[in-house]
Amino acid sequence: MTAIEQIAAIEADARATLAAAGGEGALAAWQSGVFGKGGSLTAILRGLGALAPEERKAVGAAANLAKQALEAALAERRETLKAASLAASAADALDVTLPGRPLRRGRLHPVTQVRREILDIFARLGFATVEGPEVELDEYNFGRLRIPEHHPARDRWDTFWLDEEVDGRQPLLLRTHTSPMQIRHIDTHEPPIRVAVPGRCYRYEATDATHEWMLEQVELLAIDEGLSLANLKGTLQEFARQMFGPERRVLMRNSYFPFVEPGVELAVDCFACPGDNPACPVCRGAGWLEIMGAGMVHPEIIAAAGYDPARYTGFAAGMGVERITMLKFGITDIRDLHANDLRFLSQF
Ligand code: DAH
Repeated sequence: MTAIEQIAAIEADARATLAAAGGEGALAAWQSGVFGKGGSLTAILRGLGALAPEERKAVGAAANLAKQALEAALAERRETLKAASLAASAADALDVTLPGRPLRRGRLHPVTQVRREILDIFARLGFATVEGPEVELDEYNFGRLRIPEHHPARDRWDTFWLDEEVDGRQPLLLRTHTSPMQIRHIDTHEPPIRVAVPGRCYRYEATDATHEWMLEQVELLAIDEGLSLANLKGTLQEFARQMFGPERRVLMRNSYFPFVEPGVELAVDCFACPGDNPACPVCRGAGWLEIMGAGMVHPEIIAAAGYDPARYTGFAAGMGVERITMLKFGITDIRDLHANDLRFLSQF
């Protein structure tokens, strides 16, 4: 092997080892192995003096070229390794300049939206919002509303009873309607009275598309001198107009509730069918959906609260918020409202 060939071999070998060197330590070892005291290229340069002048010139030039090329290769390898290690540490670093992930914005439950709308309408008509307890005394939920024990009207409002009693005799229950707040309110306030009472109610009931064992109601109570059925009718018609718009028709018909006389029922025409489809899941062919019961407060209730029923009269109404929500949004199954499924709820 000539000296020139030897230089070429050293350079090729050095390039191969350099390509495999993976860190600063390996680079330093490679450097001394090539350029150091006992380095492969150093040995060639040292041997130049022993060569004939002609040969020395050629070999010297070749060795210098190899030296420069390898030095450049070392610098390049060092840069490559540095860039790779930067990239690796950037990969698991936290990039504080990235925009944050947006928080998903919630919204009000459809029943909450409608409850607020109902209360807003009545507030504009002069009714203050008040609330009462969900755990109620038998006396307020039934007795003082003229539904004594064993009265058949109790079947209509079967409910959940608590084991506890008050004073060892007064049973406690989950209220079946917001009507007991009529009594609580007239017991503690003087006429003129105009209140709207929102709240949850409970019934021991089989569920279906229009019945749930928990429901929300809004109760209405007005007591004043000279109130008549005309005031009730005007108030509820105005409510229906603001709630459902002028195109929805409203029907008032005779009904019975022990705490009003006369009693009426307010209905809105069916939104899911033209009103004559017996298979309609919403109205079952009736064409009308009851949205509230109402009537003139029974004179005995006014008298029991200490007011003269010849002087004071009043009207009351109670409506189901879920039912009105279903009408507003075209929901056909009441059970969807409390199933807590965001795919359903986020539509409203
Ligand atoms: N409390 C009744 C119910 O839950 C609804 C009702 C009917 C309320 C007539 C009233 C009323 O205030 O006058 O079925």
